[in-house]
This record gives sequence, C-alpha cells and structure tokens, in this order.
Amino acid sequence: MKLSLQMISKSFDENLVLNNVSFHVNNGEFVTLLGPSGSGKSTLFHLIGGMMSPDEGTIYLNGENVNGKRGLISYMPQQHSLLPWRTVLQNVVFGQEFSKKPDLEKAREWLNKVGLGSYEKSYPYQLSGGMKQRVAFIRALMSPQPFMCFDEPFSALDEFTRADMQQWLLSIWEQDRRSILFVTHSIDEAIFMSDRIYILSARPATVLKEIQIAFPRPRGKELMLSNEFLTYKRDIYESLQRTKGELVLNENH
Ligand SMILES: Nc1ncnc2c1ncn2[C@@H]1O[C@H](COP(=O)(O)OP(=O)(O)OP(=O)(O)O)[C@@H](O)[C@H]1O
Ligand SMILES: [Mg+2]
Repeated sequence: MKLSLQMISKSFDENLVLNNVSFHVNNGEFVTLLGPSGSGKSTLFHLIGGMMSPDEGTIYLNGENVNGKRGLISYMPQQHSLLPWRTVLQNVVFGQEFSKKPDLEKAREWLNKVGLGSYEKSYPYQLSGGMKQRVAFIRALMSPQPFMCFDEPFSALDEFTRADMQQWLLSIWEQDRRSILFVTHSIDEAIFMSDRIYILSARPATVLKEIQIAFPRPRGKELMLSNEFLTYKRDIYESLQRTKGELVLNENH
C-alpha cells in the first residue's frame, strides 16, 4: 500500500505547524521521520489516521484521497492509549475485532515473545510504562491494515529491550512487507531500521532532506559499527543541528 502526502499544511489557531509537507512511502517500504520535538510529527500521524483534516493538501492511500478518513491504517500513537477496562490480552486483539474473530493464539505467542506472557490477564494500571508500550506495539502489529504507523514505539524501553524489539519488528516486517511509517528521536534507530529517512525542520515542519539508506537486508547490529553507518549518522546529525539553530534564531526575533 502506497501513502503519499502532497503539500500538507496545518495550523492550530494562529500557529502554523506543518508548512507544505510532501513525502511518500512506497508499497512495502520502511520510512522514518526524524525531526525536532514539537515540529509536527505526531500531528502528521493524526492527519494520516484521519483524526483531523489538513487545512491544505491531500493525503493519498493507493491513489485515493483519504483526508479525514479513519480506520484505514494501523496506528501506534505516542501515548499508549490502552483501554483501562480491558486486560492485556483483550487490548492486544482490540484492532482485529472489527474485521474478524481475534487470533488469541497469536496474541499470546507475541505477548510471550516480548516477555509479557504472564501478564495477559493484567490491566494496564498494573503495568510499567515500558510494558504498556510493548502491549500497544503488539496491538498495532496485530491490526490487519496493510499500512502501519509507529510514533516513537520504543521510547520508554531500556537499551537492550529496545534493541530486541527493533530486530523483532524487522524480522516480522521482512516476512509480510507491510508499509511502515515510523517516528523516532534516535538517529541510530532510524538508520538501522529504514529504507529511507525524511528529516523535518523545526516548526513549522517542512521536509529538509531525504536520505536513502542503502544497507542490504536482513540487517545485523554489527552494521552500527561500520564506517558507512557513521557517515549517515554524521550527515543526519548535522542536518538536525542546523534546524535546531534556525529554531533558536527564530525565537530571538
Ligand atoms: N490538537 C492540538 N491543538 C493545538 N495545538 C496542537 C495540537 N496538536 C499539536 N499541537 C501543537 O503542534 C505542534 C506540534 O506537535 P506534535 O505533537 O505534532 O510534535 P512532535 O513533532 O510529535 O513532537 P515530539 O517529538 O515532542 O513528539 C506543537 O506546538 C503542539 O503544541
Ligand atoms: Mg510526537
């Protein structure tokens, strides 16, 4: 499934948040957005998910205008948004219930896989922040839509759990190749996971740069110690630092 955003602008009151943003995710592609905090990444996800509509521009899924249409993508929001009255297992299968009988066996298998096998009957309030994040992550993975959006899915996890989750997401994605749009603040994570990266400016967000990550797949962690990896990292770091500089400059005026 191909996603394409064309010349999207969005303001909240007088505050311009997205300024003429265009980008796309090809069928089966893994694309990451990197940008400063408050630049408008989650707002982009809300628009793609149809929770709100853009002021200008069009969002296309496989060529169809989907401005303001909900339910077409699987979406893991930045805040976990688990339903407090449902158990872990009931939360995980929530996204499937609209279309078919939920696959409880797979839900249990995947909860086991992320170390939450013994928590299936627990409620969200009984879980740590990182555990809730993993439950929300599995819920998004299990939702049937062919296009998936993940908004900083691993931000609450320790370094080792995070590395495991990255590898696991890649291995699942390599099996079924659903299209993925991903947001992270980790430059390493972005390079390791993605086919392409878009760098967004500080608010109002525009696309500053597009970077193709040429590493073959499957990818192993040793990649992160290679010279090519460091070259990408330096390039991205400098772009992000420049846009941070613009933000400071704007605020002085
Ligand atoms: N519903 C809303 N009403 C008013 N302002 C909003 C709303 N949603 C977002 N904003 C504003 O839009 C800007 C971008 O917010 P957004 O959450 O998209 O940033 P972000 O890039 O996801 O940041 P972070 O990396 O910190 O998650 C912020 O200034 C925020 O205050
Ligand atoms: Mg955000």
